[in-house]
Amino acid sequence: MPDGLFLTVEGIDGAGKSTQAAMLAQHLRTKGREVVLTREPGGSPGGEAIRRLLVEADGGDWSATTELLLFTAARRDHVEKIIRPALERGQVVISDRYIDSTRAYQGKGDLAAEIEELHARLIGLDPVRTLIYDLSPEDARARADRRAAGAASREDRFERRGVAFQGGLRSAFHEIAAAEPARVRLIDASGTAGQVFARTCAALEDLIGG
Ligand code: TYD
Repeated sequence: MPDGLFLTVEGIDGAGKSTQAAMLAQHLRTKGREVVLTREPGGSPGGEAIRRLLVEADGGDWSATTELLLFTAARRDHVEKIIRPALERGQVVISDRYIDSTRAYQGKGDLAAEIEELHARLIGLDPVRTLIYDLSPEDARARADRRAAGAASREDRFERRGVAFQGGLRSAFHEIAAAEPARVRLIDASGTAGQVFARTCAALEDLIGG
């Protein structure tokens, strides 16, 4: 039985990470691997229940600390119920967002130390490789707008948060990539999905082959 492989994809809203995750899952399945494609917040029934508290309607009136605890609770359930069992079965797990989203989105204030402490004590599982899809907020916005034109009910976080917020997130993701070069690869997310997918495969070649 092959060893399980835990991969995560990250990036600002509209960078195209979910498309790349789906393409990667398909690619690995054609190579004969069993793949669990999952997401955060969510991924398990309990995680999805917590996700509804966080992202639906007005997203609740949580303090920054409570929000961190909810994201962490959702992750704990996701790891217990979905990710660890799949890895133990030798499967590939691709999670669309994971701890680096918490670092980027919740870590800007004074919670950075709490994020690391909770992760080390209560989650204790890191991906082998994290791909951060990197795109300017302006380009990501144009992409999100095109997507929104085809899906009227989509929540539009870009409208709510703005380009300046996305720029701050992009910087946070750059810092994460610089801090952990062995685990994290920054991927140029500009161009067609096919062009970006070639970069995705190149960034995983040592783990999955060509
Ligand atoms: P989602 O619809 O999955 O966004 P996207 O399609 O861009 O992945 O909603 C998840 C939102 O939750 C997204 O705006 C990022 C945010 N988030 C955090 O703030 N912290 C976290 O730890 C995670 C996992 C997500």
